[in-house]
Amino acid sequence: MIRILGSALLAALFALSPAHASDDTSPEAIPPTTDVSGLPPLGPEWHDSNPYRGNAAVLDTGRALYNEACARCHGVDANNRNHVGPNLLRLQRGCKKVTEPELKPRCEADVDHYFAKTVRQGKRVLDIQHMPAWEGVLGQEAVWAIRSFVESRSR
Ligand code: HEC
Repeated sequence: MIRILGSALLAALFALSPAHASDDTSPEAIPPTTDVSGLPPLGPEWHDSNPYRGNAAVLDTGRALYNEACARCHGVDANNRNHVGPNLLRLQRGCKKVTEPELKPRCEADVDHYFAKTVRQGKRVLDIQHMPAWEGVLGQEAVWAIRSFVESRSR
């Protein structure tokens, strides 16, 4: 039941996301130079949901990484002003509206999973690279720190 509700909710969220293609923004995963050595190590196995949730200590590094790697398409501090990529703040807005205590973590975990998968694989539609794949460029510490930062920006 919980799983079904969570999936229906996410399906509704994703339907809101526009698919933009970019002509002027290179779809390359340019490695950021932000120091990630201060992030708690997570090991080689990817977590299904964000292991840093609730850890405010990762937010500064997440922000620096985001602004280096993602802002050119998704807007500085995820402000959605670049209009190349979709508004990432929308991803977690739906979960904020979920009030049932047992559904909320499920919703967040679904978004986590989608976020990490999208970032690792990128988005390729009809042979056009819309979003670069970051697998091998960003480790999971970096990806989850970015996820934490983006989530912290959503009100
Ligand atoms: C070169 C531009 C570009 C860069 C750089 C980029 N993205 Fe994207 N991103 C896109 C585009 C365009 C889409 C929409 C693709 C589609 O739907 O076909 C997208 C989609 C996404 C989505 C799915 C959003 C949704 O509503 O479904 C996530 C999550 C995401 N990007 C995260 C990131 C993160 C995190 C970074 C930095 C590590 C990043 N992106 C860097 C262009 C970019």
